[in-house]
Amino acid sequence: MANRKYIVGNWKMNGLRAQLSDIADIAALAETHEGVDVAICPPVTLIAQAAENTQGFKIGAQDCHFAISGAHTGCLSAEMIREAGATLTILGHSERRTDQHETDAEVKAKAQAAHSAGLGAIICVGETEQERDAGKAIDIVCGQLAGSFPEGADADWLTIAYEPVWAIGTGRVPEVSDVEEMHAAIRSQLAQLMGDGAGAVRILYGGSMNGSNAAQLLAVANVDGGLVGGASLTAEKFGPIIKAAAEA
Ligand code: 13P
Repeated sequence: MANRKYIVGNWKMNGLRAQLSDIADIAALAETHEGVDVAICPPVTLIAQAAENTQGFKIGAQDCHFAISGAHTGCLSAEMIREAGATLTILGHSERRTDQHETDAEVKAKAQAAHSAGLGAIICVGETEQERDAGKAIDIVCGQLAGSFPEGADADWLTIAYEPVWAIGTGRVPEVSDVEEMHAAIRSQLAQLMGDGAGAVRILYGGSMNGSNAAQLLAVANVDGGLVGGASLTAEKFGPIIKAAAEA
């Protein structure tokens, strides 16, 4: 049986209080598509107000620390994020793996911290263009997944997002056959890591997904949803992706 589709907006470092109305519009739109799970991950500064404004809608963070508390200036624990009203967090996004030099081991520890605090975790994996051109994409992605995979994970709280680095914010999207091949490889890697529960873990595609290409991407085997950047910032742009997921 196909997994229920999951469409997540990653706002990255975009959004001031003026954009809270966009989150409310997206939440209202999501309510009209009951067959799809929808979430928005705004900057941390908007989480509390967004969660209060949109009761029952999923609001998430884009990172958390792996420690419960302590001397980590500028960082936020999973418990703080949960208390602010988030129910999930993105982890190991390629922008963090690059800009903050996050390692697989850190991502794994963060996922365990997120789960302990009651947050769902979306672990991101993806290859660079150079790695793809060298024919190493599947090895790289499966290696990241194995290294970042938290112990005792199950589909109730773990989601994987495949985001080819070269497709993020570029308007470039892999061939459908490449998406299919990679998602199948991730599924079998999950089966090795967790056995029977692997089929229920949702695997999202991310990287230049928009209203025009969502239907095609969401129809690919083992693509259980999308992690969307630029096209998630307004209901006008995000709506067609949610609709495509509802119809997939
Ligand atoms: P874009 O949809 O802007 O390419 O970003 C994808 C992404 O990085 C989501 O996490």
